[in-house]
Amino acid sequence: MKQIECHNLETAYAASLNRPILNKISLEIEQGEFVVLLGLNGAGKSTLLRSLVGLVSLEKGNIYINGLEITTQTLPKIRQDVGMLFQGGGLIRQLSAIDNVLCGKLGIRTAKQTLFGFPKRDRQLAQELLEQLGLKEQIYQRTSLLSGGQQQKVAIARALIQSPQILLADEPITGLDVVASQQVMQILSELNTQENLTIITVLHDLGIAAEYAQRAIVLDTGKVVYDGKCDNLQSHFTQLKDYKKMS
Ligand SMILES: Nc1ncnc2c1ncn2[C@@H]1O[C@H](COP(=O)(O)OP(=O)(O)O)[C@@H](O)[C@H]1O
Ligand SMILES: [Mg+2]
Repeated sequence: MKQIECHNLETAYAASLNRPILNKISLEIEQGEFVVLLGLNGAGKSTLLRSLVGLVSLEKGNIYINGLEITTQTLPKIRQDVGMLFQGGGLIRQLSAIDNVLCGKLGIRTAKQTLFGFPKRDRQLAQELLEQLGLKEQIYQRTSLLSGGQQQKVAIARALIQSPQILLADEPITGLDVVASQQVMQILSELNTQENLTIITVLHDLGIAAEYAQRAIVLDTGKVVYDGKCDNLQSHFTQLKDYKKMS
């Protein structure tokens, strides 16, 4: 059994695209892999990641996480195992860093539990995570006041507070400067090697992809067109349909 198995995923036909957004995607990922998801804008990368946390309705196909098929019944359990960094961070801007991190617990706790505030040990854990990520000074700051790199770290802490086995990251370094990009990639890399977290991340920089990931999956118009080592990624790109259309 592989940790993640996608069998023939197909979304509804999208008239605007003349095809389904995901068009018969099959792939398997083992625990502890560091996979980069590549492809031009509109290829379906975000949709594929979102499907792994049950946010996309599928016409066909199934997804298994740790052998458990994603259904409305299994989703709460599966969401505990799969953390997600949304494109742009997806933080609540007016909340402090620590409160954003605590939001990562909302999916797990019942409304009634949350009504009485988060337990002390959750706050303690959120604080520790932020400190480990180098945000000791920013714990109580509004996230709208933080830099892009710091916001991405808060988003990482929010995903980690549920102790996931899998971390999905949608363009975690887009818009960050070189130093912040390296810091974020380094954090993902350490989570992978030290905690054996499975990482699937969407990136646009082929050089950074090859530096950190062991495996690349390239999407083009909703299909997997390459799945393999990160050698010579540029050559796989020049063969993409959309790439040819543009050049
Ligand atoms: N909910 C939706 N309804 C209709 N079209 C969508 C929806 N989500 C995404 N799309 C379209 O599907 C295509 C793939 O989107 P996306 O997965 O965001 O691509 P990528 O992340 O690779 O840029 C895009 O053309 C986008 O406009
Ligand atoms: Mg995207």
